[in-house]
Amino acid sequence: MADISVDYMGLQLTSPVIAGSSTLTKDMDNLRRAEDAGAGAVVLKSLFEEEIRLEAGTVEETYHPEAYDYMTADAAMVYGSGEYLEYVKRAADKVTIPVIASINCEGTKWWAKFAGDIEEAGADAIELNIAFMPFEADITGQETEERYLEVVKEVKKTVSIPVGVKIGANFSAIPNMIRKLEEVGADSVTMFNKYFQLKINTRTLELEPVHTFSAPSDAYSVLRWVAVASRQCGVDISASTGVYDEDMLIQYLLAGAKTVQVTSALYKNGMSQISDLNSGLQAWMKKRNINEMNDVIGLATRKKIRQVQTFERLQYIKIADGAIFQ
Ligand SMILES: Cc1cc2nc3c(=O)[nH]c(=O)nc-3n(C[C@H](O)[C@H](O)[C@H](O)COP(=O)(O)O)c2cc1C
Repeated sequence: MADISVDYMGLQLTSPVIAGSSTLTKDMDNLRRAEDAGAGAVVLKSLFEEEIRLEAGTVEETYHPEAYDYMTADAAMVYGSGEYLEYVKRAADKVTIPVIASINCEGTKWWAKFAGDIEEAGADAIELNIAFMPFEADITGQETEERYLEVVKEVKKTVSIPVGVKIGANFSAIPNMIRKLEEVGADSVTMFNKYFQLKINTRTLELEPVHTFSAPSDAYSVLRWVAVASRQCGVDISASTGVYDEDMLIQYLLAGAKTVQVTSALYKNGMSQISDLNSGLQAWMKKRNINEMNDVIGLATRKKIRQVQTFERLQYIKIADGAIFQ
C-alpha cells in the first residue's frame, strides 16, 4: 500500500487529510471518529479573541452589546478561555493524532500569552485564524499585512510548538503575503478561511447569518492560489475549501499543498469521508506506481512550469473541446 504519511509543519502525519476547524471538532466523539477514519490531524474549533476580551470585561469597547449577543449566539463562541484550555487537554487525551488548536484573533493584545497556555494544555500546534479586516477606509493594505505579521512574530516568541496561519483570500498580493508570513516564522499557511456571512432579512430588516457550506466548485479559485504560491514559497501549505472527493484532494496535492483540511464534506457525509479520501488517494498512487507523498506533492506544478503559467491566466480566451486555453 502506498505510504501517504506526510511531514506537515514539523509534525508527522499518517495522512494529508485533516479534519478542519468547525463545530464538529468541538465534540470528543467526533475527534475519535476522525482518528479512526484515518485523519492525519484535527484542528479544534477556534477560540475567538472576543471571548478573551469578554473575560477581561472590555468587549463593549469595540462591540455594541446587541451585536455581541448576536455574534455569541450565532457564531458559536461558546468557550471562555479557561474552558478552551480544558477542551484542548481533553482533545489531546482523547486522540493520538496531532491536535492543532485554533485561535481566531485580530491582534496580539488580548491573548498572545494565552498561546503559551494552549501549548501547556497539550496542543501539538496552533493555527492562527487571523481575522483582522480593514473595514475602515483609513486602514491601508500595508497596515493590515503588518498586523498579521505582528501576530505571528508575537506567538512565535511565546511558544515552541509549530504555528500555522489561516488566511482569507482577500489580500491584494497573496503569494507575497505568504512569503512574508514565512519570513516571520509561520510553519504553515492554510488557504483559505471561510468567513461568517450575513444577509438582510427584507421582512424584518434584521441581519441573519448565512449558513453556507462550500460547493465543490469553490475549490478551483483556491487551487489556483495554492499552485501559484507553493511554487514560490517554501512554507507548508494546507488547502481548505471544497474537498468532497479524492479527485479534489489529489488536485490540491498535485498543486503543491502538503495537507488538505476538510469541513463541509464532513458535515454532509460524516467522518467516514476521511477514510474514503485516504483509500482514494492510495488507489490513485498505486495505479501510477507512486509510493510516497514526496512524489505527489507539487507534481503538476513543480515540474511543469507552463501549467503554473496557465494558472496565472485570468480571462477566458477560448474554451474548446479538450483544449482549455487557446
Ligand atoms: C459550521 C462551520 C464552522 C466553522 N468554524 C471555524 C472555526 O471556528 N475556525 C476556523 O478557523 N474555521 C472554521 N470554519 C471554516 C472551516 O475550517 C474551513 O476552513 C472552511 O469551511 C472551508 O473548508 P470546507 O470547504 O471543507 O468547508 C468553519 C466552517 C463551518 C462550515
